[in-house]
Amino acid sequence: MAQSYDRGAVESFGRWREFQAGMWAWILHKLTGWILVGYLFTHIAVLSTAVGVDPGAAATEVDTYTQTLQGLEGLLIVRFLEIGLLTVAVFHILNGIRLLFVDLGLGLDVQDASFYASLILTALITLSSLPTFLGGAL
Ligand code: HEM
Repeated sequence: MAQSYDRGAVESFGRWREFQAGMWAWILHKLTGWILVGYLFTHIAVLSTAVGVDPGAAATEVDTYTQTLQGLEGLLIVRFLEIGLLTVAVFHILNGIRLLFVDLGLGLDVQDASFYASLILTALITLSSLPTFLGGAL
């Protein structure tokens, strides 16, 4: 006979306190995946509108594209957003590879440990990127 579960109401926001590793992995994977999609569209919008020829500009002047990128990279907030993007992308890739192994039936009994490993590795990669991302910005 089919079993039924009381999953609680959608409105029971306090349920997150009972979440275990698997649920956090699921939430973080979806969240990071959709953030990457959002970034992709923003990225295309910004770069595709940063091209164009200014007929009045002298040949020695910096073009619109370079100006846009230099302007963006000159903002500290952009540097921090880039660090956030790296964190999101690295986690999604590492956890995604972990999920692909799980789909193949590999590492089924170490799923919590492999999720924590992808979190730790993400943190280490993010931390080691800080000098590169913040170089010249502070
Ligand atoms: C090497 C790179 C990547 C790997 C290994 C990877 C892996 C995965 C896997 C395995 C899933 C399915 C998770 C599940 O079983 O529910 C997934 C979901 C998803 N990925 Fe990726 N992914 C990668 C890159 C990306 C990129 C670049 C984007 C966005 C531009 C992206 C967006 C998404 C989204 C939105 C979902 C969730 C779809 C849903 O709501 O079910 N992924 N990814």
